[in-house]
Amino acid sequence: MPEPRFLQIQQVDAGAERAVARAALLAPRASIAPKYFYDRLGSLLFEAITALPEYYPTRAEARLFERHGAAMAQAIGVVGTMFDLGAGSCAKAAGLFPLIEPARYVAVDVSVEFVREALRRLHREHPRIEMTALGMDFSSSLALPAGLSHGRPLFFYPGSSIGNFTPDEALAFLRRVRSQADGGALLVGVDLVKPRQVLEAAYDDALGVTAAFNLNMLRHLNGVIGSDFDVAQWRHVALYDENASRIEMHLEACAPTLVRWPGGERRFAAGERILTEYSYKYTLDRFESLLRAAGFTQTRCWSDDRGDFAIFLGLP
Ligand code: AVJ
Repeated sequence: MPEPRFLQIQQVDAGAERAVARAALLAPRASIAPKYFYDRLGSLLFEAITALPEYYPTRAEARLFERHGAAMAQAIGVVGTMFDLGAGSCAKAAGLFPLIEPARYVAVDVSVEFVREALRRLHREHPRIEMTALGMDFSSSLALPAGLSHGRPLFFYPGSSIGNFTPDEALAFLRRVRSQADGGALLVGVDLVKPRQVLEAAYDDALGVTAAFNLNMLRHLNGVIGSDFDVAQWRHVALYDENASRIEMHLEACAPTLVRWPGGERRFAAGERILTEYSYKYTLDRFESLLRAAGFTQTRCWSDDRGDFAIFLGLP
């Protein structure tokens, strides 16, 4: 097979993207979109998070793939093109290659440099699978370049990143996948509701890796929009909102701070917060309803006995 292809899709121009990021900082409740976690260092820090004792989702999900991977592959059937949404190190998909045996693999990620390295390595191990790295933000639109998909598609969305969407956004996203997955399938990892202490520890670990991951976003944003955030002035906050079934991550100003960028500025009071991430947790029933509402008529689910994590299969 030829060498992997690398495509960068710029859906909106860089100027428009910067304008959106700056407007979010000026909103009454300031926020930074979670995609800004993932520059190269951020992707490495996320890899480190997955090795933390407190961060159970990655291990819980890996056990489900180990235990039920063969059953999943059988339920999925023949796959022409496997789209890996938020591929990162591509390790999860690679683990499934021997079972799913896709003809083509498309690794989609906002951080294309990170995927580039991973894909070169992966192609050496699986030279018969045609590989493409696609750098794009698929959170608001799933407009995949024409001609990428051949045969039945499988959309692979592991890791519970679906939790970054609000339930309404998640429904809209699943509908977009459903419309692309004509005759194909969706395999999606979902983190489940559990006691507050377990969840808050997973997002505020003793080593401070998640804090570094959260704070790194300010460095990344400085590079993108030209702001002058001083990382030392901010602290990491993670809390579980039980009513909304979501973890919220924030950055909190330690002291009154002025942040400037070309064409704008904002004063933050001590204790004022910037929202950086929601991570919604689901019950099995709630997620199953979401899949059905999105138009998947057949669903299957694999979860562990402790109810830590679930992998859902949706078929049209
Ligand atoms: C990659 C979105 C699944 O929500 O658990 C990890 C990101 N944030 N620790 C998650 C994250 C803080 C992660 N996802």
